[in-house]
Amino acid sequence: MTLNLGVLISGRGTNLRAILVAAAERRLDARIALVLSNRPDAGGLEVARHHGAPTQVLPHQGYASRAAYDAALVEALRARAVDTVALAGFDRLLSGVLLKAFPGRVVNIHPALLPAFPGLHAQRQALDYGVRLTGATVHFVDEEVDHGPIIAQAVVPVRDDDTEETLAERILAEEHRIYPAALQLLASGRLRVEGRRVVGGLP
Ligand code: GRF
Repeated sequence: MTLNLGVLISGRGTNLRAILVAAAERRLDARIALVLSNRPDAGGLEVARHHGAPTQVLPHQGYASRAAYDAALVEALRARAVDTVALAGFDRLLSGVLLKAFPGRVVNIHPALLPAFPGLHAQRQALDYGVRLTGATVHFVDEEVDHGPIIAQAVVPVRDDDTEETLAERILAEEHRIYPAALQLLASGRLRVEGRRVVGGLP
């Protein structure tokens, strides 16, 4: 099934770019129906325009609650007939409102091997802890932060001389590889969620 993808961003949009390129090259059976940013200055908006994808800015300020903002998000996504939502550096926590509108169809990428180092500054957390291996995780989104069933993971070594920046860069290269691949598994309809486990994921 061709995904009608909504991509939510807040920043520079390198994962968004990887998704757009994969779709253009037919490695990913998806139409990017909407790129939505909560921040007007997100660099990813320019990435989207460059690839001819529709964009929308929906600032999160001024809503009475997280649920109210999420209802506006759902409306924007529905208006573009979105059926699958990919979070790509979106910096807002989601309420159940969005998850209930797209059950089993919201995915996220995180720059660590979950369940290790959830939340902000995952690369810094990995360096501070002293792990020798970290990586990237694509997972279904549930109501807990960086918690839902895992679709794909990739391992990245930590070097002695790594800084947060050099490690982030090495992880990002893997993110760009596994995010489109994980979305393609979703498009192919071959993923099955059994409790916490996803059958048919990567690798
Ligand atoms: C990535 O590291 C992603 O794992 C995290 O936010 C960052 C987004 O980067 N959730 P970009 O905007 O895709 O370049």
